[in-house]
Amino acid sequence: MPAGGVLARRDETRVIAVCSQKGGVGKTTIAAHLGVRAAMAGQGPAVLVDTDPQGSLSEWWRSRAEEELPLSAIKMGDLARELPTLRNCGAAVAIIDTPPALAESIRAVVSVADLVLIPARPSPHDLRAIGGTIDLVQRARKPFLFVVNGAANRAHITAECVAALSEHGRVAPVILYQRTEWAASMINGRTVLETNRGGRSAREAADLWDYTYAQLAMREAA
Ligand SMILES: Nc1ncnc2c1ncn2[C@@H]1O[C@H](COP(=O)(O)OP(=O)(O)O)[C@@H](O)[C@H]1O
Ligand SMILES: [Mg+2]
Repeated sequence: MPAGGVLARRDETRVIAVCSQKGGVGKTTIAAHLGVRAAMAGQGPAVLVDTDPQGSLSEWWRSRAEEELPLSAIKMGDLARELPTLRNCGAAVAIIDTPPALAESIRAVVSVADLVLIPARPSPHDLRAIGGTIDLVQRARKPFLFVVNGAANRAHITAECVAALSEHGRVAPVILYQRTEWAASMINGRTVLETNRGGRSAREAADLWDYTYAQLAMREAA
């Protein structure tokens, strides 16, 4: 069992929302990898929820055809109403992928979340675009974590990005680096945790889950 405690009541579903108004920052990639890792680590059952009308997570899930990680059929508009069902579905965690841009939709998901992950790519353009998402999550008074994704090796800008984000909130100490295997692994329903178990990307995915889980457990214990 990785360090970081355990969730006290395993029969209640904690909701992790992966949100950013910016597209292409890694929301879907992160949601899928966290779900798979939660199940692998024995810290599930986990359930995925896809609230993006584009349905990339659902598509990935359908090509996956594995039973250990279900995808909930709850639609975005029914989320608030269906939340009690989601919370009592027997899953320890629900991981919600969200669409970019649509502030109203993201707000609805954030309002039901126990923890919000905000992925950010280390580029000036992405950092400028992140303000709206931060605002939205802070207004909802939800705990959140930034996740730096798509970092380049030895790039000064990664450290600058971490520093800039830290001024607004907690940054996950796990950085996900730019590697084609993140994308390639998902083409036929897998993740890097399965296509290259011993690789660096798999380590990052596992560490990100461990940290996220520890944050949930810590907040619950407090
Ligand atoms: N760390 C990474 N390294 C390489 N490619 C990545 C990484 N993270 C995401 N990608 C790729 O970038 C694109 C956007 O990621 P995605 O998860 O779909 O973002 P979002 O859901 O925020 O739009 C996808 O093609 C994905 O495979
Ligand atoms: Mg997406």
